[in-house]
Amino acid sequence: MNKKILIIDDDENLLFGLGKILEKEGFKIFTSTDGSEGLFLIYKHMPDMIILDVGLPNMSGFDVKQMLSEIPEICEIPVIFLSARVEVESISKGFLLGSNGYITKPFHSKILISKINSVFKRVDNNAENKNILLETIREETIDATILGWIRALEIRMHDDTGHSKRVISKTMELAKLINFPENEMANLERGALLHDVGKIGVPDKILMKEGKLTPMEWELMRKHPIFSVHLIQSLKGVKLPIEIPLNHHENYDGSGYPVGKKGEEIPLAARIFSIIDNLDALLSDRPYRPALGKKEIITILRSERGIKFDSKILDVFLENSDSFFEGYAIKST
Ligand code: SIN
Ligand code: FE
Repeated sequence: MNKKILIIDDDENLLFGLGKILEKEGFKIFTSTDGSEGLFLIYKHMPDMIILDVGLPNMSGFDVKQMLSEIPEICEIPVIFLSARVEVESISKGFLLGSNGYITKPFHSKILISKINSVFKRVDNNAENKNILLETIREETIDATILGWIRALEIRMHDDTGHSKRVISKTMELAKLINFPENEMANLERGALLHDVGKIGVPDKILMKEGKLTPMEWELMRKHPIFSVHLIQSLKGVKLPIEIPLNHHENYDGSGYPVGKKGEEIPLAARIFSIIDNLDALLSDRPYRPALGKKEIITILRSERGIKFDSKILDVFLENSDSFFEGYAIKST
């Protein structure tokens, strides 16, 4: 969109001539011969820049700049002074008032145009840097919120085994091996971190039960993917990945929960994650069994090929199985 420039100068010939020149440069031009009308036009048109004469009737250009500096909605509009006053006092006053430039009359239009363009470039760069900074802060805030949720769950479950961290790095590793899209890696990481966040909604006596769960308890436990989605979507205005939290207990043959999705209906991220989550569970001590050994685990995972797990992804996992067992204290059997 064309940038809008308001020129305020009491010399009507200059306004006309300069207006034409700047229009040719692609700017949309508004003009005024008077400071107070100029202020009104600033409000009306919200220009991207103001070219401001100093010696104006009623209200000087300096007064106009001073006034607009005090008004939040318009104080950041860049101002270039254009004045016949060449004394150092005037020029320095112009800068002290926070202008972006001071061009003395008579002037060459090329000099003014290059000044206008350089000011716009600087302003645009600043705006872009500010946006990048805001986006970074926003991303960091989201990550801190998610980490807070996960930490709360871990504290509640007295879980300091580093399960989340491990499954994240192994999920990313397996994803790379199957050429998972690079630009979806960050989402995959967040999804893996969030996978069981819905357990916050499962009562203690089920979540930390030492023995086997009753069918009714299982029913509640199996709601954790849905609880995850509710919690994740409660963070308004933030798009977080739900593929893994919602689908990590779906099985390739359709026998999983919460929906019973089948094959490629199950998002790829969840099909990858499910293998790693099961690996991590088998490598961990449970109240009803100690951690299993590598051979035993491979046998179990292989027996679920095409049943619980996507065969193609499981094959890649099995071909590279050594690296997935790294970092665990494993039994040699
Ligand atoms: C889990 O979320 O890992 C426990 C529930 C289940 O094994 O299905
Ligand atoms: Fe789970």
